[in-house]
Amino acid sequence: MTIQTATNNALPHQAAPPAGLPDVNALATLANQIFSTLPGKELGAGLQQAAGSESATRVLPQTAAPVLEAALATDALEAQAPSGRQLGQQRQAFLAPPTLPQPRVPEATPGFYFLSDNPTQQRQDSADSGLAGLASQALTGQQHLSDQPFAGAIKGELEAVIGALFPPDSAPVSGVAQDAASGQYYFLEQGHQWREGAPQLGAGSRFDVHAVRRDFPILAERVKGKPLVWLDNAATTHKPQVVIDRLAYFYAHENSNIHRAAHELAARATDAYEGARNSVARFLGAKSPAEIVFTRGATEAINLIANTFGRKYIGEGDEIVVSQLEHHANIVPWQQLAASVGAKIRVIPVDDSGQILLDEYRKLLSPRTRLVSITQVSNALGTVTPVEQVIALAHQAGARVLIDGAQAVSHLKVNVQALDADFYVFSGHKVFAPTGIGAVYGKAELLETLPPWQGGGNMIADVTFEKTLYQPAPARFEAGTGNIADAVGLGAAVDYVERLGLDNINRYEHELLEYATEQLIRIPGLRLIGTAANKASVLSFVLSGYRTEEVGNALNREGIAVRSGHHCAQPILRRFGVETTVRPSLAFYNTHEEVDLLAATLHKLAKGR
Ligand code: ALA
Repeated sequence: MTIQTATNNALPHQAAPPAGLPDVNALATLANQIFSTLPGKELGAGLQQAAGSESATRVLPQTAAPVLEAALATDALEAQAPSGRQLGQQRQAFLAPPTLPQPRVPEATPGFYFLSDNPTQQRQDSADSGLAGLASQALTGQQHLSDQPFAGAIKGELEAVIGALFPPDSAPVSGVAQDAASGQYYFLEQGHQWREGAPQLGAGSRFDVHAVRRDFPILAERVKGKPLVWLDNAATTHKPQVVIDRLAYFYAHENSNIHRAAHELAARATDAYEGARNSVARFLGAKSPAEIVFTRGATEAINLIANTFGRKYIGEGDEIVVSQLEHHANIVPWQQLAASVGAKIRVIPVDDSGQILLDEYRKLLSPRTRLVSITQVSNALGTVTPVEQVIALAHQAGARVLIDGAQAVSHLKVNVQALDADFYVFSGHKVFAPTGIGAVYGKAELLETLPPWQGGGNMIADVTFEKTLYQPAPARFEAGTGNIADAVGLGAAVDYVERLGLDNINRYEHELLEYATEQLIRIPGLRLIGTAANKASVLSFVLSGYRTEEVGNALNREGIAVRSGHHCAQPILRRFGVETTVRPSLAFYNTHEEVDLLAATLHKLAKGR
């Protein structure tokens, strides 16, 4: 038996592979010779021999070409190489468009993610797998090369080869996701069919809140011996059974890491994860799932944009516009960026109702404005901002716009394309999904220009000690093993919300908010903070004679959960002269009876002063 060693330049004896199939052993030998060459040593003669051999031309062209090209470029090898014309022909052979064998998928088997006959997916599958990564879909030309210098002779040659192999216009927009219509999803096809969680409500259907409540097991809880009344939905929402079941199903039947292994569970998990990306893309009205990057939540999503878009496009003297309504998550990352690059933060003021002043906003816009980052619904006051106008005006000024949709997506129908938002972020847990998962939408053409933020596995196409090649979006922004199960849960949650219908939800909630407002403003000593004409969900108030936490505790004794505090939005509360408020916040599973109990409890408190 012959053992091939790192210093053995001879190609291993082997049977020729069937026509059209890659000669993997020959490829491995070539790679071994290149990467085992010690510093200052010349590449082995066997490599040159391999370059001219018939078996070498059968080596998988995509994977071998850049490495062999780089090797052929070294002076040592030039001396032993065939004539220029011969070499040119050999290079041509290596650089010819690959004719990859199509994977054989048994007829009865669903098209698993990594077994897809979609060439884009085949390239994705090769990512993260050493040499094969050089053939990855992510090699879209020089834009994917990191700034680290290549060592010695390989540098220019390898860059040229990569550029030739993968010209910029060859970049696939999406490397990872499949259209749901293509039926690529394991759990949609395997008899493990996912149970629908709610009946589809048509436009104008009667919204049966009591039927909907049965979807949420926690709403049957008792607190202090009383039925739970959950009015803290702006802090977090509860999860319907379909989301809870989806998580359990994932861990019971699909759990695996994704995008990597060639085994069944990896396929199931990958399909589930990418299926969730499709759901989120549809939920937001994105053009493509490649425009959806999973994050821990809205906070991480804003930090991601600050550290990618911000670091690339915002510099000294540039301006970032936010509004006075913002959650700290949409203030602090911009302050951190501004401090490090020398940019300035400008703030859109609000009127006494808590609505932004568009005329003041217009005055803030200038050629120095690079980004406008604004909430769609204020978490502290409930104001719905006129984001359509905000975006249009920003674009006229040449600025990009990020919309913080954390408080919006559970109440309003969002279509990022109709809005023309450049970025849109939200958190899963505010829309009936698990905590620790959220998403950022970015226009594909914009995401493609952005550098990565965090580095690690999954986001790379190829790594050497000199240089890293990155995946395109969205994988470029998803370093490491992400929150796979909760992303799947997020997909189930937005599917559930879509089945109820955001128009139905919006209509019901709007009526409930008006009813609650009428009840609360009758309570003596209660000052409502945030009275904009266009509001969603939130009723922020202070009650004279009581500290806000005293009100929160008194409500808790009745089983009513509200938030009292500054709601991570200190600037807007200070605009109204308070440090904290009591904040009941509604969701579609709240009832008029719950609002009545809230009002009655507050009346008692007001009387007891
Ligand atoms: N942002 C969350 C809230 O408004 C935590 O309560």
